[in-house]
Amino acid sequence: MQQVQDGTSLTSAIQIVPVGLRPAVQSITFQALRRGYWVQEVLNQYVQKTPPGLTLYVLWAAISLVPEKNRAPMYATHTLVNEAVNVCHLDKNLFYAKGLINAVLRRVLRNENLYQEISENKNPSYPDWWLHKIKQTYSEQAQDIIDSSKDRPPLTLRLNQRQIPKEQQEAYLKKLQDAGLEYKKISLISGVQLTSAIELTTPVPVNQIPGFFEGACSVQDAGAQLTGALLNLQPGAKVLDACAAPGGKTAQLLELFDIQLDALEIDPARAKRIQENLERLKLENARVLVGDASEPKGWFDGEQYDAILADVPCSASGIVRRHPDITYLRQEVDIRNLQVMQRKILTSLWSLLKPGGKLLYVTCSVFPEEGELQARWWLSSMPNALRLDAPGQILPSKEHDGFFYALFEKEKK
Ligand SMILES: C[S@@+](CC[C@H](N)C(=O)[O-])C[C@H]1O[C@@H](n2cnc3c(N)ncnc32)[C@H](O)[C@@H]1O
Repeated sequence: MQQVQDGTSLTSAIQIVPVGLRPAVQSITFQALRRGYWVQEVLNQYVQKTPPGLTLYVLWAAISLVPEKNRAPMYATHTLVNEAVNVCHLDKNLFYAKGLINAVLRRVLRNENLYQEISENKNPSYPDWWLHKIKQTYSEQAQDIIDSSKDRPPLTLRLNQRQIPKEQQEAYLKKLQDAGLEYKKISLISGVQLTSAIELTTPVPVNQIPGFFEGACSVQDAGAQLTGALLNLQPGAKVLDACAAPGGKTAQLLELFDIQLDALEIDPARAKRIQENLERLKLENARVLVGDASEPKGWFDGEQYDAILADVPCSASGIVRRHPDITYLRQEVDIRNLQVMQRKILTSLWSLLKPGGKLLYVTCSVFPEEGELQARWWLSSMPNALRLDAPGQILPSKEHDGFFYALFEKEKK
């Protein structure tokens, strides 16, 4: 939590935690971040001045685990107090703070009017500029968007159609049932049909999902599964996935279509993950390239593409419920910088597309600067770009994260 406050993503920060402890540490840290601004308010009222170092973080974590209104508690309250006190024996400074931690936590837990006195709705874990942007853009839906970041995200699978074609889907679903996993199919998002999205009622580790390591399926939010239907590729098409890691959308395209695909990624370590995913899913006909989408000289072989997927780097403001550290890490100026980077990538990719080819622009953002405004800018600056039918902005809901999809065709001369 301290590292996140200092600007490191939780995904990086958690690497120092032993593997076996990571799920528990992540779960508590997520909770502390989701309720972080509210916890600060509670601390302001219950502690005279902000405690130093680890004492603050133990109190922060413990108060974030105080049972939420209308939600099953993560821990029984006596366990919470016991564990918060036990943890004080692990560190000298914490040991001196044991009395304070114990007393504050008990007082917070005793207050039956806690949620009336310190409202969670009035203290969502977002910086002011972010809240302002959401309220200004989405007057009616703003509260739902803000609230949705507190939801526990579902675990959604994408069945690998190479291994589980349509006619075998029921048999696979039966295997899920036999493994004790309840599920529901998600077949429509913003007018786009999905064929392979299965949401598990209760998230489980992937080793409990039948056939996962043999490549039967992948974990992918349903909102990310629209790419295949929107691009709808012809057999033999030469396709570029320009910002590909970890390869979720790359893999979906290869599962659905007989194409030749270049999966480009700027970060070599992340590019390795594309390769690993393709191997697990037993997918072929892909080249994994390490390079910069905005500098094709280093990797482009000179033959234009029939289709390009530009799932560009973005603020990730549509996936806060999966990455609650995002609202702590982003600054307002980042949005403008990301917009500039996205435009640079788009401009360079357009020259790699054949006339008559399609480019799908995707972000997991809810900010119009990275979505609709970008699509309009593109149309006004590219005389040979036509905008085709695609959902545009998809707001986060219980079933899926927030995404933006715009589809363009390059006019034939
Ligand atoms: C939103 S993620 C892509 C997710 C991926 N399409 C999927 O579905 O699994 C964006 C990726 O683009 C990479 N990236 C950022 N800038 C890039 C650039 N200039 N060229 C190529 N890749 C880039 C990032 O490292 C990141 O892995």
